[in-house]
Amino acid sequence: METRVESIMLWGHSLDEYIQMFDLTEADLSKSILDCTAAAGSFNTEMTKKGHNVISCDGMYDRSADDLRSELTQAHHKLLAEIKDNEHKFRWQRVQSPEALAKAWEQSADQFLADYEAGRKEGRYVQAKPPQLGFKDHQFDLALCSHFLFNKYFHKDIDQFLFDAVVELCRVAHEVRIFPLLDVKGEISKMIGPLMLHLQQNDYGVEIREVKYEFQKGGNAMMRVWANTCDVK
Ligand SMILES: C[S@@+](CC[C@H](N)C(=O)[O-])C[C@H]1O[C@@H](n2cnc3c(N)ncnc32)[C@H](O)[C@@H]1O
Repeated sequence: METRVESIMLWGHSLDEYIQMFDLTEADLSKSILDCTAAAGSFNTEMTKKGHNVISCDGMYDRSADDLRSELTQAHHKLLAEIKDNEHKFRWQRVQSPEALAKAWEQSADQFLADYEAGRKEGRYVQAKPPQLGFKDHQFDLALCSHFLFNKYFHKDIDQFLFDAVVELCRVAHEVRIFPLLDVKGEISKMIGPLMLHLQQNDYGVEIREVKYEFQKGGNAMMRVWANTCDVK
């Protein structure tokens, strides 16, 4: 049976999950960070409370908190049903059941929604989506992008979109981290090799790094990309 668990619009990860997914150190957390296709996670909210510097962008940030709330509820119900149909594809350790997962999403979304309107006014939630982000060259030290780029559901012509989106992330940030490296079926994306080659041919440094986070089985690695002229190694 084909797994379509990522074919839904929203997850909603927390700071703790981002730390593990992207192998973020205390020094990383102190950097100027872009969370690209951030959706309704609480990373920005939690980081702002700790005094850190994060801008989140997403195409859906032109909507009101009320509109987002009703879309989120529907999307979470749909995603949860798909995860329940494919429970064997996930590691139920950190989160022990689909019900606990739903609770975690709810908590993360509640934090995001409570912060969203104020964050928009402060310029912390910006309506922008790849492959054209509209930020300045190297405005950020670090750009993070989770659960989006290797997912064919979001962009049918994945090859060119992926290349363009990652190069755009490298334009706006000194370093880019992408997680997970799985495609829409939960398998290692066939685009990893072509993307790494494309980046190396365009003078970017690339590495794949194992991380502690693994919810989708096999999804325990991230890609780091940096311009070879930058000192981020
Ligand atoms: C799965 S969510 C990302 C979740 C979030 N990064 C996290 O880990 O909690 C995918 C996001 O991509 C955005 N999106 C969907 N289609 C897109 C497209 N074609 N171009 C850019 N963004 C898109 C959606 O608005 C959604 O917020």
